[in-house]
Order: sequence, then C-alpha cells, then structure tokens
Amino acid sequence: MRNNDNIGHWPARRIDRRTFLLAAGTAFASAYVSRADEPTETSLRQRAEKKGLVFGTQVNAGPLFSLKPYQDAVLRDASMIVPENEMKWRPTQSTALQSNYFNADRIAKFAKDNKLLLRGHTAVWHQNPPAWTKDIITGDDGQKLVLEHASDLIKHFRERVMEWDVVNEAIAPEDGMPDNLRNWAPYNKGGIDFIVDCFYAAREADPKANLYYNDYSVYYQSQSHRRDAILGFLEKLKTKGAPVDGFGIQSHLIAKAEFDEVIYRRFLSEVADLGLKIRATELDVSDIRLELDIKLRDTIVAAHTKQYLDVLFDEPAVVGLVTWGITDRFSWLHQGWPRKDRLRQRCLPLDDNFAKKPMWYAIANAFEHAPSR
Ligand code: XIL
Repeated sequence: MRNNDNIGHWPARRIDRRTFLLAAGTAFASAYVSRADEPTETSLRQRAEKKGLVFGTQVNAGPLFSLKPYQDAVLRDASMIVPENEMKWRPTQSTALQSNYFNADRIAKFAKDNKLLLRGHTAVWHQNPPAWTKDIITGDDGQKLVLEHASDLIKHFRERVMEWDVVNEAIAPEDGMPDNLRNWAPYNKGGIDFIVDCFYAAREADPKANLYYNDYSVYYQSQSHRRDAILGFLEKLKTKGAPVDGFGIQSHLIAKAEFDEVIYRRFLSEVADLGLKIRATELDVSDIRLELDIKLRDTIVAAHTKQYLDVLFDEPAVVGLVTWGITDRFSWLHQGWPRKDRLRQRCLPLDDNFAKKPMWYAIANAFEHAPSR
C-alpha cells in the first residue's frame, strides 16, 4: 500500500451521519450473529465454502510455529494461507550463491499436512531484491537475473503452490514512465514485454499453478488514475498473450476513505471482461483516520469491511478473499502506517488476544450474503 495521497495526511474528523448509521447497523448485526450462533459458530472458511468462495489468510512462520492460539485461529478460519515474507527474494537469498527456503518450506508443509491451499507471494517485486543484486539489476543482465529468480522460486514450490502473485505492484502512473510502468530498471528496459516474459517463465516453472498480477489502491474514488492504468495494463498483457489467470486486489483499505460502489462494481466487471479471475489478496482496514474509542473504531472498520466485501462478492469473477493476517497482534500496519497517537491499529478480524472483533462478523456476514458460485 503506497496510498500516500490518502493515508497519513487526513486530519481526524467527526463521523458523518451515514457512516455512523452504517456502523451502528453492523454492530447490531454482529451482536445478533454472535449470540445466535454460539456455541457452534460457523467458521469463516465454512461460510465461504458454502458459497463456492475461499477464505484465506497471510501467515508468518514465527507465530505460526510457536504460538498455539495463532495456529488454532488459522486452522479454524482459513482454507488458504500465504506467507507474509517467507517467499520474498530478500529474506530467501541473502547471498548470490544459494537460496534458503527453510521457513517457506515449513509453511508449505504445514499447508499440505492440514490440507490448506497455498498462495505464493511474490516472484517479481521492485521492493524486495536482496542488496547484492543492486548493481546487476540496473545493468545489462538485470532482466535475466529477475527472470531466473522468478523461475527458480516457482520451480522450487512446483505443485505445492496453487497460485502465484507472479508480478507485484508494477504500475505507478506517478512515475511518468511509458505504459504507466513503475520506474524500475527491468521495466524501463523491457517494458510490458518483460512482464509478459515473467508470466511465461512462471507458466513454464509450474504449468499447473494459477498466475496472478497483484496490485494496490484501486478501491477509492480518488484512485481512478490507478484503476485506468491497471485496466489498460491488464488488457495489454492479455493482448500480448501473457498466461495470466487472475488479478489480485490487495485491498489495504482505510476506514473513512470515500468508497463508491458504482465505480468499484464497474471496475471489477471490466477486469472480469478480460477473462480474469479476481481475488482480494491482502485485506486489512487501517483505522488511522479514526478517533480513540476502540468500540467506535471496531464498528466503523467492520462497516467499511462489509460495504467493500458486499460489492466484491457480487462480482461473479471473484473467487475469494485473503486477509493480510488473522490477528491485530502481528499486523504490518503497526510499523508500516502507525497511528499518530501510537495506539495499536485494529485492522484485522481477531484482536491482539485472538478474540473475534466486529470485523470478523462483518466478513462472516458478507459471506452469508454472497451469491453462490
Ligand atoms: C509487507 C509485510 O507485511 C511486511 O512485514 C514487510 O516488512 C513489507 O511487506 N503489499 C504487499 C505485501 O504486496 O508483500 C506487503 O507485505 C504489504 C503491501
């Protein structure tokens, strides 16, 4: 999420009437669902499966293998997992000589042992090459190095990962480069054709995996330039014959940002018209613009989640939802987008102690109301 135009610069405002009513409605619904379902509350994964959808979550090897309540929460609610950082280039190849997939392999084994689907994240990402690659990437062999890395990584997990974010965050209209590509040496040199090659390399490395392009900031009114740029880009990828199966919408949301259902529905259906599947791949809801009160924050975050997911699940091309963590305790937002008052963000379905929050019930409720696939 590099949503600088929005995040961090907005003064906290009073809640407007509509947001409050929406939020209050969700709070009521949550309380109702929570009481009605206990003690055998249906998990998120079951609710999703009932509709032909998949609920997944990002996991981190640290807590996954050392903290039982965390592992229990993952196993209860998710039927798909994706490693937070364990498959990324920098943590897995600190020297040119060899790769270390110890943590990612443990996560893959955990997925297999527990019959969970495994997403791969991510093969090509400007933000994460190891330090030793710096000069190579800007030189003549930069594209070759990135392609080799993508290919080796995907081969290593062949037939263990069901779906890859092959390329992550390649679009940056603000960089002013051709085709709205990000100002990064391999893109500057190879253009979209280089990205097409990345998808071909991925297909060859694991012919059975679904291949996704993954990106952020396409949800809000103010992000039309990114929606247009990404649509144009996906269209070109398809025209050039890239083997791309889906578009991953990160969904790092911000409670109180202007969400326009009509615009978002249209965007989703335009992506679907390209013959692509869609998955929300990194949902969390920042409460950075909300006041102190925890109950109020939770209620507004839940209402925002529900409003977003109702629109998302209405689109038949959408195959599922992955949250960027299951508990507030380990969210990247505490470091990535800290609140000015330094309070902890309440951005994920479970709180710091693994208790269900209104956001959990909002997701449950959205699955309940989703049309069946
Ligand atoms: C984040 C991780 O959560 C952090 O731990 C890490 O320091 C930086 O990356 N978009 C992505 C994810 O595609 O890989 C990012 O994950 C969050 C934004």
